[in-house]
Amino acid sequence: MKHEVFEKNSILLLVCALIVVSIGGIVQIAPLFWVDSTIEKVKGMRPYTPLELAGRDIYVREGCYACHSQMIRTLKDEVERYGHYSLAAESMYDHPFQWGSKRTGPDLARVGGKYSDQWHAEHLLNPRGIVPESIMPSYPWLKEAKLDPSRAAEGLKVMRAMGVPYTDEMIAHAAKDLSGQSRPDSDDAAGVAGRYPKIKVSDFDGKPDDVTELDAVIAYLQMLGTLVDFAIFDASGPNLR
Ligand code: HEC
Repeated sequence: MKHEVFEKNSILLLVCALIVVSIGGIVQIAPLFWVDSTIEKVKGMRPYTPLELAGRDIYVREGCYACHSQMIRTLKDEVERYGHYSLAAESMYDHPFQWGSKRTGPDLARVGGKYSDQWHAEHLLNPRGIVPESIMPSYPWLKEAKLDPSRAAEGLKVMRAMGVPYTDEMIAHAAKDLSGQSRPDSDDAAGVAGRYPKIKVSDFDGKPDDVTELDAVIAYLQMLGTLVDFAIFDASGPNLR
């Protein structure tokens, strides 16, 4: 009986168990040090525009993630309710990611394009005006708080430091791009639309002359889940970039 020696010596058993278990760990973890990325690249993903990024910051500041997840699981009921399950690539430019761990309200990973801008504006200012039984808080200050375009470049630079591929040109035009996206009639609107594919340019909050926090949050909500074209996406591989 060779294992008798382990059965009679608990320390030896412990040490050998640790060695065996750590082999499994090394096999799983070590290869990650030699691959460039664990996230498959998917066509359509781009960094956030300055306005969307500002909206995302406000989303984090207001704690929307405490009630809303942004991660559709690969389960039938979730896919039927919210759309295609979330891909890792869809949160590759999120620092920090907004997957969330609780759904008091619905998942928002694909809320982009589901409602009009006006619906979002009214809903954020007073959710019960639209859904009488809603327990979502009202955020009336978003419409009054103006964004400072001169700070837009800072946000992009921080993201670039974390690996988001913002170009020098995007950073140089950040202030104009921020206001251009919420002013469809201005000259800056064409500029931002040229730099960032698939963006929505709109007077999101119904106040054409101001760029408010409400503009930013709605611009962010309206792009969620809209970048990857699932009509051509094939999870088996050929349409990955
Ligand atoms: C206390 C929890 C709570 C917080 C915090 C919260 N929400 Fe909600 N949210 C809800 C609930 C519940 C609903 C469903 C009822 C409704 O539509 O109002 C909802 C619905 C929504 C919807 C509509 C989703 C859909 O598919 O119909 C959007 C968009 C939304 N919330 C955005 C936000 C944003 C942006 C914030 C942060 C500024 C936020 N929520 C904060 C609870 C919350």
